[in-house]
Amino acid sequence: MTPYRLSRPLGAALLAGSLLCAPPLFAQPAILEGERFHPEQGSRGMVATSHFLASQVAREVLAAGGNAVDAAVTAGFALAVTQPRSGNIGGGGFMLISDEDSDEVIAIDYRETAPAAATETMFQDEDGNAVSEWSRYTHRAAGVPGTVAGLSLALEKYGTLSLAEALAPAIRLAENGFAVPQRFVDGVSEAGERLTQWDSTRAMFFKEDGSPYEVGDTFRQPDLAATLRRIADQGPREFYEGETAELIAAEMERHDGLITLEDLAGYQPVIREPSHGNYRGYDVYAMSPPSSGGAHIVQMLNILEAYDIGQMGFGSANTMHVMAEAMKRAYADRSQYLGDTDFVEVPLAGITSEGYADELREQIAMDRATPSEAIAPGKPLPFESNETTHFSIADDDGLAVSNTYTINFSYGSGIAVDGAGFLLNNEMDDFSAKPGVPNAYGLIGGEANKIEPGKRMLSSMTPTIVKRDGKNFLITGSPGGSRIITTTLQVLMNVVDHDMNIQSAVSAPRIHHQWLPDELRIEAGFSPDTQALLEGKGHTLSQESAMGAAQSIVIEDGHFFGGADPRRSTSSAMGL
Ligand code: DON
Repeated sequence: MTPYRLSRPLGAALLAGSLLCAPPLFAQPAILEGERFHPEQGSRGMVATSHFLASQVAREVLAAGGNAVDAAVTAGFALAVTQPRSGNIGGGGFMLISDEDSDEVIAIDYRETAPAAATETMFQDEDGNAVSEWSRYTHRAAGVPGTVAGLSLALEKYGTLSLAEALAPAIRLAENGFAVPQRFVDGVSEAGERLTQWDSTRAMFFKEDGSPYEVGDTFRQPDLAATLRRIADQGPREFYEGETAELIAAEMERHDGLITLEDLAGYQPVIREPSHGNYRGYDVYAMSPPSSGGAHIVQMLNILEAYDIGQMGFGSANTMHVMAEAMKRAYADRSQYLGDTDFVEVPLAGITSEGYADELREQIAMDRATPSEAIAPGKPLPFESNETTHFSIADDDGLAVSNTYTINFSYGSGIAVDGAGFLLNNEMDDFSAKPGVPNAYGLIGGEANKIEPGKRMLSSMTPTIVKRDGKNFLITGSPGGSRIITTTLQVLMNVVDHDMNIQSAVSAPRIHHQWLPDELRIEAGFSPDTQALLEGKGHTLSQESAMGAAQSIVIEDGHFFGGADPRRSTSSAMGL
């Protein structure tokens, strides 16, 4: 990848914020008259994030001549300020970068790691019972954060902006504040108790008199601004070895947490090869372990490719049935085999092989659901020799970025680092606290995902880039815990099989099955007749409110289409 350099005057303008008011650039729209949903359009690039302020600053970077990685890193830091329930510097995630010129797709793994003092049974009481309160709401719930190192690595290797330039909009938003939208007010109110439990968190999310912010109030984060400024001035190692690291370690010491200065100093992001498969002629790249997402998206697509899904139709009982059957089998395998490949062997080649998909497909009957209890993790071929938020960004120089990062729950552990102004993740809950005991998303993990010092906990985050004829075509991914993989699968199938434009593909109602519990979750929008047909096949249906938030992009013939997910009221796609 050979990034072009952003001219210094433009970099300086970004730092000063003077481009934030640049007039919109005219883009000749493609004609989509007659469609029910209309994507955002652009001829020079597209950003789609879950917060309009992050989309705005990322778009400004593209407009100023920055590339998709510059815009992505800028958006990542801006989301840490504007959407602190999931945007973060206290968590971790995964970024896929596709460069058409070099035909490379790389994955940056900046997932959190277990501290050195972590043990396999640290979340079990003396009788061996898993205690979810400990893995979710204590200082021990936090893994060593990876976001600052991961975003900085992406920028250094593939971007053109300096870290200070990419941080400038976030610092400005934290210092000057921004008017809070309804979603912010609702989020704080829903998480109420958790955000008032710790003084540091209360001071961050409530006014000095203790009252909550109302819509339109200005929300300022001076401690976070100072932290971001230190990182801008001293570089990413400041977070891991400087004053910020000391603030984190002191927070841990005060409250019996495990993360030490040594853990922080030892944190490193890793560049990995993404999982890869082929679906109806499209090249599908998605996150490899320690995420389970890529392996299982490829596995499910392999199973589903043999059905004429387009002809069977979107939302038909038969389509939903075969999708649910593929989902069950993939999630059963996930429970057994998936974990951090730096610690355990994962039979990835087997799971993603077409032969194994054929075997699994043979077990699927069209007229009846296989009960989950009759499905055990399969036997993929031998081990090879061995509130989260997603955003998608593409530029007109052949670079595309798909990024999902998280602090796990909305507001993570609910614990803000005193004096540093950011929330700590509770990602340790994504390990299996005990084999067979489900995590917060009902996901069961096995030995492969047991806690070990320095290990990355298994994730479902699935940043995905689909290429057609060597060109970036679809950039997607989602939050949603266990539903991330199935949400991403459906956006992809809606585009490829059902020929939907990206806004329709993102808006369409979704389903989800994760093997256990044995229920097919469905969003509103599927007809009662269809539901009755599914029940007739033996599926147990359960109605679920909005699943996922897949901010996505499609690029066709050099034209950019953005689909902001309506399931988040602050979602925004902006083209240029
Ligand atoms: O890594 C994972 O799979 C989870 N920690 C993601 C959590 C999540 O998506 C919550 N948001 N909706």
